[in-house]
Amino acid sequence: MKNKYVDLIEQSFEFPNEEFTVEDNELYWYGVPLMDLIKQYGTPLRVSYLPSIAKKIQRARRMFNVAMAKVDYNADYHYCYCTKSSHFSFVMEEVLKHGVHIETSSAFDINILESLFESGQLKPDTFVICNGFKRPHYVENIQNLINLGFENVVPVLDNKFELDLLLNEFEPQFKVGIRIASEEEPKFDFYTSRLGIRYNDIIPYYCEKIQNNPQVELKMLHFFINTGIKDTAYYWNELNKAVNLYCEMKKICPSLDSLNIGGGFPIQAHLDFVYDYDYMAEEIVAQIKAICTQNEVPEPHIFTEFGSYTVGESGAMLYSIVNQKQQNDRELWNMIDSSFMTTLPDTWAINQRYVFLAINNWDSEYQRVHLGGLTCDSEDFYNAEAHSNAVFLPTMKEDTEQYIGFFHMGAYQESLSGFGGIQHCLIPAPKVVVIDLDENGEYVTKLFAKEQSYKSMLKILGY
Ligand SMILES: Cc1ncc(COP(=O)(O)O)c(C=O)c1O
Repeated sequence: MKNKYVDLIEQSFEFPNEEFTVEDNELYWYGVPLMDLIKQYGTPLRVSYLPSIAKKIQRARRMFNVAMAKVDYNADYHYCYCTKSSHFSFVMEEVLKHGVHIETSSAFDINILESLFESGQLKPDTFVICNGFKRPHYVENIQNLINLGFENVVPVLDNKFELDLLLNEFEPQFKVGIRIASEEEPKFDFYTSRLGIRYNDIIPYYCEKIQNNPQVELKMLHFFINTGIKDTAYYWNELNKAVNLYCEMKKICPSLDSLNIGGGFPIQAHLDFVYDYDYMAEEIVAQIKAICTQNEVPEPHIFTEFGSYTVGESGAMLYSIVNQKQQNDRELWNMIDSSFMTTLPDTWAINQRYVFLAINNWDSEYQRVHLGGLTCDSEDFYNAEAHSNAVFLPTMKEDTEQYIGFFHMGAYQESLSGFGGIQHCLIPAPKVVVIDLDENGEYVTKLFAKEQSYKSMLKILGY
């Protein structure tokens, strides 16, 4: 009878695959034996596999460039990394090695960029697309960056007041973008995004405030679809509206030469996830080209700001099961040695699911379980997968440790949980280990952060 955990996974998914393999009943991730990591560093353990980042950047560039070649597109593709998805220095340093441009969201982002500039890792010709609502500190930092010699800083105006703030007591000429307030998906709580300037106001605003101001040059239109880049009528409709507006504006604004389509390339949240990235890139590029041709307008440079797509699949969170609790005849709880709410906050906030696998004991029979976190919060659990309403793990045996992994969680989780800050029930932030490949292609690991200490938390709390 096929009732082992390995049978379940092999029957449910295309498994093994390029990323996940099993040897001697233990899981390997990108060729890294995870049990070795656990033996060396213990759990809970947050792992970052850097080579995945490079691969994603190269893949997107290839897809957009191929798509452009297919329709004879006469402008360039620019890959920006959206810093808010992970600000860790090892991520920023890795993306910059691959020559990406940067998208920022708030004042401190610019301080990070200054630090990377001082260490020689960020070049002053990098495009820095400054999104987000601009409070005075952010405005000042943007101005400082321009003064430092960054010639491609593009503050994207999120509202009609920001330009005046940027111009205040500031002499140099600079470029700007305008964010279009896109329509939300029909099932959303609102009709129009609160981010950006409404469609009908953009041209009058440009004519009134930018057209005759020699200090400012409008370079970019920006739109971002909250629900991501999807093959839906809604997405194509929004793209069409944005490109049509671009064409209309280009006729009165010769400096305008770029369209930023934001982030939103999805990532694999379960093993049978299917998404045709090549088709989407081709369709986006072809539609932009076709609309521009119809309007007799030269096609724009295309910018993307992929966050999850860049860094999501490089992250894993490993836990051990510390105990098993049978709470009634049907509900069996496997308790992890950390908290879902603090280490994977999206599981709680937006019901996000991740690729989830056992790390050892693949030859054991499987059982259905609920996974519980250590906080006292009744919401601190994980008991359904993206592809099913249940979670299965190898059956627990006495004196045998069980380890589990959540994969592709590399984006947003630390920013949302406030890594190293106060955590729910004071469950400490986990150890962080970074994996890279050496010149021989062998993996090497480095401890980036120890598990959070009680002292650091007490200090924040004023003790
Ligand atoms: C303006 C903007 N660009 C890019 C992104 C990145 O989105 P994703 O991580 O889905 O690629 C976001 C995410 O909120 C955003 O608001």
